[in-house]
Amino acid sequence: MNIVILGGGGVVGQKLAQNLCARGHFKGKSITRITLADIVMPPATAGCDTMICDITNPASVAAAIPAGTDVIYLLAAIVSAHAEAEFEAGMQINLQGTMAVLERARALGTKPTLVFSSSIAVFGGEAPNPITDHVVLNPQTSYGTQKAIGEMLVQDYARKGFIDGRAFRLPTISMRPGKPNRAASSFMSSILREPLNGQEAICPVGPEFPHFYLSPRMCAENLVRGAEVAEEKLGQNRAMIMPGRIWTIQQLIDAMTAVAGPGPAKLIRWESQPEIERIVMGWRWDIRAGKSLELGLEADESFQDNIRYYLEDDLPRA
Ligand SMILES: NC(=O)c1ccc[n+]([C@@H]2O[C@H](COP(=O)([O-])OP(=O)(O)OC[C@H]3O[C@@H](n4cnc5c(N)ncnc54)[C@H](O)[C@@H]3O)[C@@H](O)[C@H]2O)c1
Repeated sequence: MNIVILGGGGVVGQKLAQNLCARGHFKGKSITRITLADIVMPPATAGCDTMICDITNPASVAAAIPAGTDVIYLLAAIVSAHAEAEFEAGMQINLQGTMAVLERARALGTKPTLVFSSSIAVFGGEAPNPITDHVVLNPQTSYGTQKAIGEMLVQDYARKGFIDGRAFRLPTISMRPGKPNRAASSFMSSILREPLNGQEAICPVGPEFPHFYLSPRMCAENLVRGAEVAEEKLGQNRAMIMPGRIWTIQQLIDAMTAVAGPGPAKLIRWESQPEIERIVMGWRWDIRAGKSLELGLEADESFQDNIRYYLEDDLPRA
């Protein structure tokens, strides 16, 4: 199996690459090649090839997805607050870039599996709670709009038989390793990650703020399981919510304290940030995965797991 991960230098792409390398097989066949392609050269990753690719450039996309590619993970994107602040860049990368990848997949003529990382940001507005797979998409940001369009394109390219497509609406991935990013949700990792590294962090919302979360490790596992599901089991709706769990900020902090003791929580400063608040207050949190659970994808058991995964996998490199 020849697998290409676009956005392979990002947090989810790196976790996915590690997962795939460790298992060595995919859909019952050996993995022969994993290529990590990203606009910034991905870090050298054992067992993977790395290359630069700009998904907005069709020639660059064609070079990253050669003939013989079996599976394409489309994770490359700019994230929520970035796409909100830079409207044109969001449309160019998240929408035109997605189109360029889909067109390349179609041009292969071999119906590759294509996995698109959508987001719970496709939901919002006046839809009733709880949010399920069947709730109308009503994004309240440009990023959510770009993801919603991407999902629909994946659905249509699959309906036409150009790809074996599937789209998963990722919960907020926490805790992310590395540095804060331009996602409006960035604080949902940094209020834990920075204190665990002995640094201060700012929390722009109150302790009762609820949200829908998944660990990077389980996200990568779900992306593999979701790609391995037989096409005939997907049914007519190929876009679905990836499992996650709902926690308040206080529950995240309590989980950190349970695992790492009381010290880190003292490094959190509570400070309002209206621009971030404006975006995240529009997000839905009462979210229930349905089809993906039936297909064998999973949520973390507890947020303490997320903290432990970070300490095991990422703390030395953070
Ligand atoms: N992390 C989350 O909480 C979350 C939640 C919902 C959806 N998602 C989606 O999951 C995917 C992966 O998220 P992540 O957390 O790893 O994000 P990330 O920012 O860590 O990774 C995205 C990668 O895409 C790359 N990229 C940006 N523009 C590109 C371009 N023009 N061509 C090629 N590569 C480009 C970036 O360099 C980056 O390495 C994204 O599509 C994101 O929208 C993430």
